[in-house]
Amino acid sequence: MKYFKKLPGERVYLSPICPDDAEQYCEWLNDWEVANSLLIFNQQLSLERERMILQDMIKNQAQIFGIVTQKNDQLIGNCSIFRINDRNRKAEVGIFIGDKKYWDKGYGSEALSLLLDYGFNVLNLNNIMLEVFSFNKRAIRSYEKTGFKIIGRRREGLIVAGGKYDEIYMDILASEYKSVYLKKNFPGMDS
Ligand SMILES: CC(C)(COP(=O)(O)OP(=O)(O)OC[C@H]1O[C@@H](n2cnc3c(N)ncnc32)[C@H](O)[C@@H]1OP(=O)(O)O)[C@@H](O)C(=O)NCCC(=O)NCCS
Repeated sequence: MKYFKKLPGERVYLSPICPDDAEQYCEWLNDWEVANSLLIFNQQLSLERERMILQDMIKNQAQIFGIVTQKNDQLIGNCSIFRINDRNRKAEVGIFIGDKKYWDKGYGSEALSLLLDYGFNVLNLNNIMLEVFSFNKRAIRSYEKTGFKIIGRRREGLIVAGGKYDEIYMDILASEYKSVYLKKNFPGMDS
């Protein structure tokens, strides 16, 4: 078994990452259509480097998950919580669905809702933020569906393929988020 249902949703679950998936991640993250929004396309991501990155993340207990389908246990993407600031209970999140067949079908927003559940109800965060480029309308819509609001933008923060694009900042507070799994499945909630 490669994946484990740490945070189960209706159509996807979040699993600890599997080091054997380095090649799959490498393929996705070298695909311009997937990675043009991720700020890593300018880096050389070889299989060996991706293997090392995954091993480092596992060793350092990074808050990172594979996004896996409930139907056939297929890995379709990845999401993570990083820049965790415990004193002020804030952090940032990132997500990608690498398998393009699964875009626009609600998998990204479901996975992000599960990630927020973990962030707000296990890590006890209060504010979770993300950055997205202004051309990435699909991502912005998906984040709005999940409950994120636009809080600001850095103008022309990205120059790529002859265009200048804004970086958009979005966030969500714990008080604005409704748990999709953890609260419903915590025994203390019955009493
Ligand atoms: C961004 C991403 C995680 C979203 O996941 P997803 O499963 O595709 O998104 P969802 O299906 O939850 O939501 C997408 C929404 O955007 C809408 N959408 C798609 N293209 C759009 C466009 N050009 N303009 C406006 N809305 C658009 C879809 O119709 C859908 O909204 P709806 O449910 O109201 O119809 C995923 O597409 C992805 O990984 N993309 C490549 C990498 C990436 O951009 N990562 C994010 C970097 S910040």
